[in-house]
Formats: sequence, structure tokens, C-alpha cells
Amino acid sequence: MDTKVNICGVELKNPVMTASGTFGSGREFSELTDLNGIGGVVVKGVAAVPWKGNPAPRIAEVYGGMLNSVGLQNPGVDYFIENDIPFLRQFDTKIVVNVCGHSIDQYKDVVRKLRGQDVDMLELNISCPNVDEGGMAFGTDPVMVEKVVYEVKKDADKPLIVKLSPNVTDITATAKAAARGGADALSLINTLTGMKIDIHKRAPVLYRKIGGMSGPAVKPIALRMVYEVCKCVDVPVIGMGGISNGEDAVEFIMAGATAVAIGTANFINPRATADTVRGIEEYMEKYNVSDLSEIRGIIE
Ligand SMILES: Cc1cc2nc3c(=O)[nH]c(=O)nc-3n(C[C@H](O)[C@H](O)[C@H](O)COP(=O)(O)O)c2cc1C
Repeated sequence: MDTKVNICGVELKNPVMTASGTFGSGREFSELTDLNGIGGVVVKGVAAVPWKGNPAPRIAEVYGGMLNSVGLQNPGVDYFIENDIPFLRQFDTKIVVNVCGHSIDQYKDVVRKLRGQDVDMLELNISCPNVDEGGMAFGTDPVMVEKVVYEVKKDADKPLIVKLSPNVTDITATAKAAARGGADALSLINTLTGMKIDIHKRAPVLYRKIGGMSGPAVKPIALRMVYEVCKCVDVPVIGMGGISNGEDAVEFIMAGATAVAIGTANFINPRATADTVRGIEEYMEKYNVSDLSEIRGIIE
């Protein structure tokens, strides 16, 4: 049985990655699960300088998932290079750096600083709904998407994954724009904008009022978008949104995804990535699938 997958020349031992922002840089999770069993660790968004994120409350539980408005809190790229790369390199897993910025220049600063560093891929986050500048403002306009990707790609010395926003009417328009701009792969979905109100306090639950929704309830939407995107671009797609186990992951692979990422499920089960790998293997064994290419994109 072969669970290996190749994303733009980078070989992952299995197709299961962590979703950015739900696994930190792997340090805390490494005490609870074996990082060697994960195809790739996608780290929390890294900016050119430290960001303090949004004021609390910035997390809320909702039916079938959660809302967050963390706002890409992170210690900055210099800290990341010094501390997180050496930590993650102890493990036999691929390192994917989620890159965030408030402007094209800020994205480019991060990518330039990462040149020559021992990481495997970059993931450009142009889809965060929790920042006022950059993020989703870039990721929902196809003209802007193409421009940002084109500019950042010029400075990147690693394959560039572009992370798409689901907060659009037609995800194929931004997917094609990212591919035109030079994206080596696409990942989707980031969170869907949502809201919760505390009726007793007559106030929004989140300080920023609106946050990003993730978790099992978004899975059918994510799956539909991955299916649509896989039909319209030639680059590999990493599917995410509500994936909690091997069966969920197989659905995304059948829709055309080359790999998948586990996000919110990590908060419920810190071993969700390892369990998903095992679940995929069990499916392959049960249905005599020797290579994932036999089931990838089989839904017409
Ligand atoms: C608390 C939290 C923080 C997140 N931070 C980031 C981030 O830094 N960069 C990013 O691209 N996506 C971020 N995301 C989005 C996830 O990576 C993922 O795209 C989304 O949650 C959907 O997957 P899920 O339903 O499995 O969580 C974050 C999500 C959550 C819940």
C-alpha cells in the first residue's frame, strides 16, 4: 500500500498535513502525537514582524465547529527561523510555512527572509478574514489574487501554495487567477465568515463581532469547493475544512485533492492527524486500493 503523494516535487510520506493556526509550530502537539507520522506540518501564519493579534474574546464554540478571530498573532519570521525550523527539523515531516502580510511588500519580506532556509514549501495566506488589511481583502478579488501571487512568487525559492478564501461567489475565478499568477499548488478552504450573539448580554460573543467559522459543519462546503477547483486548474490541490478522520479525507481525495489538512479537529483530538492517516490506510486495505492515485478525482 502506497500513501506517498507528490506536491510540486516535494514527496510527502502520506497525504495528511496540519492546517495552519491549529497546530502552532508543532511544539505542544509533539508531546501528544508523533510528528514523524504526519505528511507535513503547516505552521501558524508567519509575518515579517511580530503581530499581537486581536483582543479577546477571539474564540467561540458554535454548532458543528468554532469561530475564531485570532488575527494571525505570531512572533515574526526572525523568531520562526531561529526557533521553529530547528525544532521541526528533528522530525521526519515536511515543513510548510504559512506566510501572512498586510501588503504585498510585507508578504515579499517574509518570503525573502525564508530564502535558503531549511523549509519545504510556502503557503501564501491571502484568505484570513480576521485582519483589516491584506488577508481576505486580497484573496476575494481575482485581479488582486493574480497580482499578489505573481509578485510573491518572484521572490520565493520554494514551491508556493496559495490558500484560497471560501468567502466568494465563484471559487473557480480566484483559483484560476492564483494559477495564472504562478501558484504551484492551491489549498482551500480558509474559514467562512460567521457570527455569534450572546442574547443575555445583548452583545456579540467575539470582540471583533465577526470571525472565521471552521470545523465539521463547513465540510460539505469545503468539499464542493475543492471539487470545483480540481476540475478547473492543473496544479495540485490541498483540501481542508472540517476534516476529522480518514473517511472525510477520502472524500476530499475522491473530489480531486492530492493532500488534505486537519484543522479544528486537532483541538478535539490532538492525534487527529495520525488517526486520519490510519483511517485512510484502513480504507485502502478494505477496498484494495494500492495507491491513492486509483481513487483521486474519481468523481466526474
Ligand atoms: C484558531 C484558528 C487559527 C487559524 N490560523 C490560520 C493561519 O494562521 N493561517 C491560515 O492560513 N489559516 C488559519 N486558519 C484556518 C485553518 O488553517 C483552516 O483553513 C480552516 O480552519 C478550515 O479547516 P478546519 O475546518 O479543519 O479547521 C486558522 C483556523 C483556526 C480555527
